[in-house]
Amino acid sequence: MAKTKILGLMSGTSADGLSIALCGAEGEKLEVLKFSNYPYPAALQARIIAAKDMKTPELSALNFELGRLWAGMVRKFCRAHKVPYKSIAVIGSHGQTVWHAPGNKGHTLQIGEASFIAEETGRPVVCDFRPADMAAGGEGAPLIPFMDEYLFGSGCPTALQNIGGVGNIAFVGKGVKTFGFDTGPGNSLMDTAVAELSGGKLSYDRNGAWAAAGEPDLRKVYELLELPFFRRRPPKSLDRSEFTLAFIKKHFAGSFSAKCSRDLLASLNLFTAASIALAFKSFAPRNTRELIVSGGGALNPVLMDNIAALLLPSGVRVRSCAELGLHPLAKEPACFALLAWLALEGRVNHCPSATGARAPRVLGKIIPGRL
Ligand SMILES: Nc1ncnc2c1ncn2[C@@H]1O[C@H](COP(=O)(O)OP(=O)(O)O)[C@@H](O)[C@H]1O
Ligand SMILES: [Mg+2]
Repeated sequence: MAKTKILGLMSGTSADGLSIALCGAEGEKLEVLKFSNYPYPAALQARIIAAKDMKTPELSALNFELGRLWAGMVRKFCRAHKVPYKSIAVIGSHGQTVWHAPGNKGHTLQIGEASFIAEETGRPVVCDFRPADMAAGGEGAPLIPFMDEYLFGSGCPTALQNIGGVGNIAFVGKGVKTFGFDTGPGNSLMDTAVAELSGGKLSYDRNGAWAAAGEPDLRKVYELLELPFFRRRPPKSLDRSEFTLAFIKKHFAGSFSAKCSRDLLASLNLFTAASIALAFKSFAPRNTRELIVSGGGALNPVLMDNIAALLLPSGVRVRSCAELGLHPLAKEPACFALLAWLALEGRVNHCPSATGARAPRVLGKIIPGRL
């Protein structure tokens, strides 16, 4: 059977750029064939992060601006990798989350008008995956555990941790009823601190260099792990707006200065790692011995070392999905390619045990391609 080519787009809560993955799907197998990441200019990133406070005309304009921008990035991607549009069966776009409020009477908003991608390519595009889950009583996130189960569901119990703006974990494997939840901050606290302390010149702690040069405030880190979110039972999900500059200023008032920037980053890095280790230790099914990390956080060696050191006493092996041949930024776009492909075929692309929805659904809204 020939591989079906499917394309996925992801712009995460970090608003750092658009990740695009071209995948080959065959039976139950999924393989990333090509991957590129297209960073946003700092001014656009700042506007996206501020979008939650925009007035309607501005938000409407940003919706279309992102749609046009992404259509151009898809064009660039397909030219660079020599992928004819007609070879693509379907395109999945998660969209840019500007608001996510799960819970009773919850609501969510992803923007980046997908009609522009359909217009550019002529291919069917599937977008807006979260609302159908929320309409069915789910938290609208996380959606990735569906792919984790698809890929790792028949092997030994495994934990999959993505570290984007927020962190999320999924547990899958033989004998495990797949579930997942947001673990807490991902890169967001570290990114916010670096952006603020560098006066907007830097957007993240590249390779964890600041954190590596500082001393963490252990007492504070362990105190923060007592926050109610970490104790709540899953399903649970978070928005980037929960871990903001205000959070850092409130809890690290003493070290929020250029002079202490290395120590602050060391603390935020350790806190992020510790929230992930705590999630694993609190909720991993027995016999889970491995944590596979994806997302931009997997590219931060200090964060990876912190997580590994915290889980070592439990005998858990921590590794990047890069070791499995998957670029850490390719996993999420690959997931939305998969969800789109299944949606177009009318097959379930949803893991209700991860989101709390009442039953499996086919998620996504389909924009038909041109004949
Ligand atoms: N070399 C690196 N060193 C440290 N952090 C990195 C590196 N590359 C990426 N990151 C982090 O990853 C983040 C982007 O991760 P990503 O998975 O794209 O998140 P999201 O899904 O929220 O967009 C960046 O904001 C940055 O914090
Ligand atoms: Mg990103």
